Amino acid sequence: MTSTLAPATGTTPTARGPRGLPLLGNLPAFARDPLAFFCRLRDEYGDWVPWALGPRKAVFASRPEDVGELMAQVEISFSPAELGWAFRHVLGDGVVTSTGPDWRRKRALVQPSVRPRQVRSYAATMVECADATASGWSDGRAVDVAQEMTALTQRIAVRTLFGVETAGREQVIADAMAVAQQEIGAEFRGVTVFLPPWIPTRGRRRLRTAVATLDSEIERIIAEHHEAAADGRERDDLLSRLLAARDESGQPLSERELRDECITLYIGGHETTSTTLAWAWHLLSGSPGARARLDAELATVLEGRLPTFDDYARLPFTQAIVKESLRLYPPIWLITAVARPGATIGGRPVAEGTTVWTSQWSVHRDPRLFPAPDAFRPERWDEDAADPIPDHAWFPFGGGQRTCLGTRFALVEAALVLAVLAQRWRVETEPGEIKPFPGLTLQPSRPIRAVLRAGAAS
Ligand code: HEM
Repeated sequence: MTSTLAPATGTTPTARGPRGLPLLGNLPAFARDPLAFFCRLRDEYGDWVPWALGPRKAVFASRPEDVGELMAQVEISFSPAELGWAFRHVLGDGVVTSTGPDWRRKRALVQPSVRPRQVRSYAATMVECADATASGWSDGRAVDVAQEMTALTQRIAVRTLFGVETAGREQVIADAMAVAQQEIGAEFRGVTVFLPPWIPTRGRRRLRTAVATLDSEIERIIAEHHEAAADGRERDDLLSRLLAARDESGQPLSERELRDECITLYIGGHETTSTTLAWAWHLLSGSPGARARLDAELATVLEGRLPTFDDYARLPFTQAIVKESLRLYPPIWLITAVARPGATIGGRPVAEGTTVWTSQWSVHRDPRLFPAPDAFRPERWDEDAADPIPDHAWFPFGGGQRTCLGTRFALVEAALVLAVLAQRWRVETEPGEIKPFPGLTLQPSRPIRAVLRAGAAS
C-alpha cells in the first residue's frame, strides 16, 4: 500500500523551515515541547523541513515513504544517532548501542532468542504473571495504572530473561533497572546529556551504583546458567538461548557481551511494553464501545479460561487495541539518523552530517494518514476497514535495518496481559486528557489514577 500524500518534490532546494536563534537554532522550541514542535513543522512547513539543533543541521521528514526509506538506509547511507553517555554506561555495547559489523554480528546472535517461535515459550510466563496480578487486585482498590503495569512487565521481563529461578532476586534487579532507566531518561531530556562523562552529577552517581548492582546480579545469574548447562539441566529462558548462540565463526557471546545483551533486552523491552499497556487501559476506560467489543471477543474465544499463545491469533480486536494504543502513544517517539556522504531520501540529496529526524508521534497523528487522528478507534485496524493504513504510516517498532527485535514479543505480551486482566477486571481511570511526557519513552505526565472493578461486563 502506498501513502496518500503528495509525492516528494525532487531536490526541493526551496524547502522552508522555522527561523532559529543564533547558535541555538531551534533548540529552545524543540526542548520546550518536542511533540508540538514536530507537529508544527509538519503543519506549517510541509513534509521535508530543514531546521537546526544548535549548530547541527537537521531535516524533519513526515512522508511515510521517506520514513521507510530512512529506516531502510540506516547502517547503509545513514549512521544511527548517538544515544549519550548514560545509555551506553547501562547498555554497554549491546545490539542497540553497537554499529557496523559489530552490530550485525550481535543482531544475528540475539535474533534467534526472540524469534516468533521462541515467543511461544515465553507466552506461558506472560500469562502466569498477569494471572498473579489479576488475583492480587481487589474490588474498589485505587491504583496508579502505570505503576501496576510496570510491576507486572518487570516480573515478566526478569522471568523470561533469566528464568523463574531468579524469583528471589527479582525485586533487586527490577529496582536497579528502574533507577538506570530513570537516569537514562533524565539525561536524555536534560542538559547533562551535553556534559562530559567524568562530571559526577548526582544522577550519574545513582546510575553508577545501580549499574554496579546489576552487574553483580547478572554475573551471578550467568554463572548459574553456565552451571545448569554443564549439568545438562535444560532452561527455557532468553539467557539460556543467548548462551547457546554462536556467530558465523562458531564463537559464543563473551561474558561481558552476555551482560550487555541481557540489559539491552530488559531496557528495550520492559518500559516500552508497560507504557503501552498503561495508555491502553486509559484509552479503553474512556471508550465503552471498544471495551464492550473487547469483552465480547474474550468471552467468545476464551470462554473464561486463561489464554495461550495460540489464542493470540484468535484475538484480532485485542490486537487492534494494542496497535491503536501504540499509534496514539508510541513509546519510542522519534527516530534519527545522520547522513553519510552521498545519502539521499526520496531523490533529494542529504548533505553529509545532516541528521534526518522523524517522529512516530507526528506521523501517527497526521490527519492525511489517519482520519480523526486523535480519536481512539481500534476498529480502524479491522481487516475490512474503510481507510487502509498506508505503509510506514505506523512504525512504533521502527523498521528496516534496525527494526525492533522484540516486536512479536511485545505485541503478544501486551495482548495476552490485556486478555487475562480484562476477563476479570475493569480498570476505570479518572476521565480527562493525560498529556504525554516525551522522555526516553512517551510516559504519562502524571499518574494514571484508576479504580479497579471486579468483573468484565459493564
Ligand atoms: C511496545 C514495545 C516496544 C516498542 C514500541 C519498541 C520499539 C523499538 C524501536 C522504535 C526500536 C528502534 C527501531 C529502529 O531504529 O528502526 C527498537 C529496537 C529494539 N528493540 Fe524494541 N520495542 C518494544 C519492545 C521490545 C522488546 C519486548 C524487546 C526484547 C525482548 C525489544 C528489543 C529491541 C532491540 C534489541 C532493539 C535494537 C535493534 C537493533 O538496533 O538492531 N523491544 N524497539
